[in-house]
Amino acid sequence: MKSYTPSNAVQQLPEQFFAKLVNKLRTHQDKGHDVLNLGQGNPDQPTPDHIVKSLQEAAEKPLYHKYPPFHGFEFLKEAVATFYKREYDVDLDPETEVAILPGSKTGLVELSQCFLNPGDVALMPDPGYPDYWSGVAMMGATMEPMPLKREHDFLPDYDSISQKTWEKSKLMFLNYPNNPTGAVADRAFFEKTIQEADRHDVCVIHDFAYGAIGFDGVKPISFLQVPGAKDVGVEIYTMSKSYNMAGWRIAFAVGNRSVIETLEKIQDHYFCSIFGAEQEAAATALLASQECVDDLRQTYESRRDLLVGGLKDLQYEVQPCHGSFFVWLKVPGSYTSESFADDLLEKVGLFVAPGIGFGSHGEGYVRIGLNNSEETLKDALRRFEDFKNGS
Ligand SMILES: Cc1ncc(COP(=O)(O)O)c(C=O)c1O
Repeated sequence: MKSYTPSNAVQQLPEQFFAKLVNKLRTHQDKGHDVLNLGQGNPDQPTPDHIVKSLQEAAEKPLYHKYPPFHGFEFLKEAVATFYKREYDVDLDPETEVAILPGSKTGLVELSQCFLNPGDVALMPDPGYPDYWSGVAMMGATMEPMPLKREHDFLPDYDSISQKTWEKSKLMFLNYPNNPTGAVADRAFFEKTIQEADRHDVCVIHDFAYGAIGFDGVKPISFLQVPGAKDVGVEIYTMSKSYNMAGWRIAFAVGNRSVIETLEKIQDHYFCSIFGAEQEAAATALLASQECVDDLRQTYESRRDLLVGGLKDLQYEVQPCHGSFFVWLKVPGSYTSESFADDLLEKVGLFVAPGIGFGSHGEGYVRIGLNNSEETLKDALRRFEDFKNGS
């Protein structure tokens, strides 16, 4: 059989970190080991019933058996605008300031395809969600890491970016509540972001995947709540985390008109939007009571308290995360993030994500998911204790 050479664009793609991670887990499980998987970001609970029912009913409507409108149904864009007004007091024009995406992972790759040329620079949070890298690499552009350090509350320090780098930069990726560090951003940080983006002509892409998951009574701020944000960028909001809809593949981008227009243009060539019944169920999720989202947030907060409290009791160096569903744990002693993760897996069957997989500034940490029941987390704590005691 012939073997065909992939295009340069495909050859430029980085190794998919999560795919590699999952392979490691599978290999270990295939050997018959009992493993607790705390390494991935897949919500563990089902989609709330009223959303599933909405999909079931809508699936019977012949309207949805035809091709949907290219840019999605107007009712969904209107629901997105109503959601943003209700949750964040942000005004959006559904027609020009909302784009429907088949999951934010896809939208994030498309945005690089929309705006980057070879030689351009994309400013990248480090550590950060690895899927931002894919589109940048595919376009032959370069990534300039913005280190997220504990002493700077895991926010980038814009003053340390050189004038030369600013000049070459076209895009900046941000993500608060943050995966993997669990940090949240405040208004002052977004104000500074808007000033810098405006001054240097950089388009900001704020990934608000964990927007619904903020702890200690603090609701995470939307980038678009800050005046001027729409002039310099967009926010990406996924249904995956807030409504446990990761398998449904639906998200949206909101904000700057020229970015929305370009995204919709590229999507005209890739897709014909998403199954209409799913769009109706997504609108139900956004418009119905948000009690399920409150319950979810509280569940993650209780899990955080349990895990962080337990790890502190065991003398691990860990801070409570302020949002997202990840705990960012400092690796003990002379371990690297990978050697610590490997040892946890080998010795006590605990699977966590090594920080190095999120960028070089993730070294020294591992990421632990709160997307596991309290029972599982208690079992994890017992295993951390066994590990500490040298088993
Ligand atoms: C920060 C961040 N952005 C985006 C995504 C992807 O979300 P989606 O399911 O919408 O593709 C994830 C998923 O883990 C994430 O952690």
